[in-house]
Amino acid sequence: MPAAPTDRRYGPAPLPGPRGPVSAALLDALRAAPGDLPAGLGVEFGAVAEPLVDEDLQLTLFLCYELHYRGWRGVADDWEWEPSLLALRARAERPFEAALRRLAGPLPAVLPAALPGALTDLVAADDGPPLAATLQRRADLDQFREFVTHRSIYHLREADPHSWALPRLGGAAKAALVEIQMDEYGNGRLDRMHAELFRATMERLDLDTGYGVHLDRVPAVTLATNNLMSLFGLHRRLRGALLGHLAAYEMTSSLPNRRYGNGLRRLGVDAVATRFYDEHVEADAVHEQIAAYDLCGGLVRAEPALAADVLFGAAAALAVDRLFADHVLSAWSAGGSSLRSSDRALAAA
Ligand SMILES: [Fe+2]
Ligand SMILES: [Fe+2]
Repeated sequence: MPAAPTDRRYGPAPLPGPRGPVSAALLDALRAAPGDLPAGLGVEFGAVAEPLVDEDLQLTLFLCYELHYRGWRGVADDWEWEPSLLALRARAERPFEAALRRLAGPLPAVLPAALPGALTDLVAADDGPPLAATLQRRADLDQFREFVTHRSIYHLREADPHSWALPRLGGAAKAALVEIQMDEYGNGRLDRMHAELFRATMERLDLDTGYGVHLDRVPAVTLATNNLMSLFGLHRRLRGALLGHLAAYEMTSSLPNRRYGNGLRRLGVDAVATRFYDEHVEADAVHEQIAAYDLCGGLVRAEPALAADVLFGAAAALAVDRLFADHVLSAWSAGGSSLRSSDRALAAA
């Protein structure tokens, strides 16, 4: 008897098309029963010059990581812990993490008490390209829809990657993370979950809100913003970086979200569409304090050796977001689209 259809809003995601030899081989394998992948698949990732924008590497990582979230439609659950797939994932993760550490650059050594201040300095020094200002003042509706399409990969499962930290923490840091995540998950009310608020924004913009349906349209750099959270979330050794990542997101959220909301209002879209952004203006003004002082501060009071990792996670979050913003703005200023062409996506499918 065929399995009952699942709700496409919540996953599993439809398999995307390949972007190179490794993701093609992995996709072929995933359609069959779990078993050994070709020996050494992905060794070439060790020689990739720019892992953060390498389509084949980022898609391969995303394919591996999604098995730990909602999974892939038509793919056996047992692939999640298939040893040869985990070996492939590690071959992609090593150059990815090395590239993130290069990008984050040297970071100051800090004592636990100074960590919240160091996070504040890091965020204050962040001079990313003016993506939020562009969306507020100049972007047209199609460009806004592009932006929302990119962000849908994260926002339709908003907060999930950071929840990986919960069982790995105790004490003050855990209490602070629960406090933040409660808001992200709408305090248990479906219609207040941030992922659902984002779904309403997408609906108002006539975008498909199916889980993972836009994967073929988003480039490697968008996948990298997501893979970064999964890398930090799935490795306990990187729990400090995961909390630093969350802190950077919370501490750089309030003002850009005000701009996104104002941009949509300028375009004449209603309050249902702007609610996701408006909600973050208020919520994240509170979250940024909790994240810096209680969450990251609490973590390093308990585990002082993790201070450097917290700063690395925050710096990596800001740096990869800068790359993303650069990509979008360069595409727009060249008069093009920041998404992959639907032709390419269709051909891949
Ligand atoms: Fe949120
Ligand atoms: Fe938040």
